[in-house]
Amino acid sequence: MNGTATLWWDVQTESICYIDQTCLPADYTIVECHTIERLVRAINRLEIRGAPALGVAGAYGIALAARASKSKQFKAFLSDVFRDAETLRETRPTAVNLGWGIDRVLEKTARAPDIASARKIALEEARLIADEDTASCHAIGMLGASLLPETCTILTHCNAGSLACSSWGTALGVIRSAVQEGKKVKVIACETRPLLQGSRLTAWELVRDGIDVTVITDSSAASLMRKNIIDAVVVGADRVTGDVVFNKIGTYMHAVCARYHNIPFYVAAPVSTFDTKKTESDVIIEERDREEVTTMGNRVFVPDAARVKNYAFDATPMKLISALITERGVLIPPINIESIISLKNTK
Ligand code: MRU
Repeated sequence: MNGTATLWWDVQTESICYIDQTCLPADYTIVECHTIERLVRAINRLEIRGAPALGVAGAYGIALAARASKSKQFKAFLSDVFRDAETLRETRPTAVNLGWGIDRVLEKTARAPDIASARKIALEEARLIADEDTASCHAIGMLGASLLPETCTILTHCNAGSLACSSWGTALGVIRSAVQEGKKVKVIACETRPLLQGSRLTAWELVRDGIDVTVITDSSAASLMRKNIIDAVVVGADRVTGDVVFNKIGTYMHAVCARYHNIPFYVAAPVSTFDTKKTESDVIIEERDREEVTTMGNRVFVPDAARVKNYAFDATPMKLISALITERGVLIPPINIESIISLKNTK
């Protein structure tokens, strides 16, 4: 069981290499990305996706921008890098990690004494972010696994696996760690309309690791809960504010159903996903193209005259969350801004 790395820096080609997630599960394709424009396209198209992976991509993006700048003066060089950073930041507004990864590397880069050191420092910091994310996922996995029964069926939504992180995963990290400890875990993966991150990516990861997985349509979840088939729900997060957890559209629906059926609802996320300065109303929920909903392959399933809403994420109130599993510990209710800040400050 490995939880493959999702993206990495290739020293020889001086590029970001990543698994193109739009090609899975049919094709396993590695892309070499040499420019900010290509990285922006990759993030927009969800070739790279998932909050922690976006943080790592943003971080390596700054290392790429630092290499791409042709400016000879440090001030002009920094202005090139900051311009590219803003282009990158605008790609996806909901997951907090993208801006977090960009800012962490920018801050170090700006304090470098010269261009050569700035390039080196940017890459070192990006690598550190990637390594820290892997370590966080393993810690989350270990802490989360202790919450799962010896034998259980877990429902998950979207993909919070190694593909969405540096490796191992958050929600799938909990499942991987539980399996590694010898627990008998079966997974129900919601397909996750419209882009099918659950059926394409979560199922692909779990099948690869030999973990029992069954794919369902999103609308089957409540019925399976009613039939007592689900022992717990474990999902990831794109942003955790003091009042809500933002995650893939459909997460809120599972949380409401889980509460109604007395099923624990766990959120697994690194503290890099915490945004203690904002509340629900401050956060933009990304709306994506109508074609993602209206079209499958070459066929159109919605009349042209019908309006379509394609929200990529939703918000789940803290009171529906049974535990927030992080690398620094597990928060149990009442979960609020005070407990979140206090956990964030724990070393
Ligand atoms: O639109 P996506 O595929 O980037 O959305 C991803 C999710 O919602 C994940 O559940 C979330 O980022 C957690 S990943 C550890």
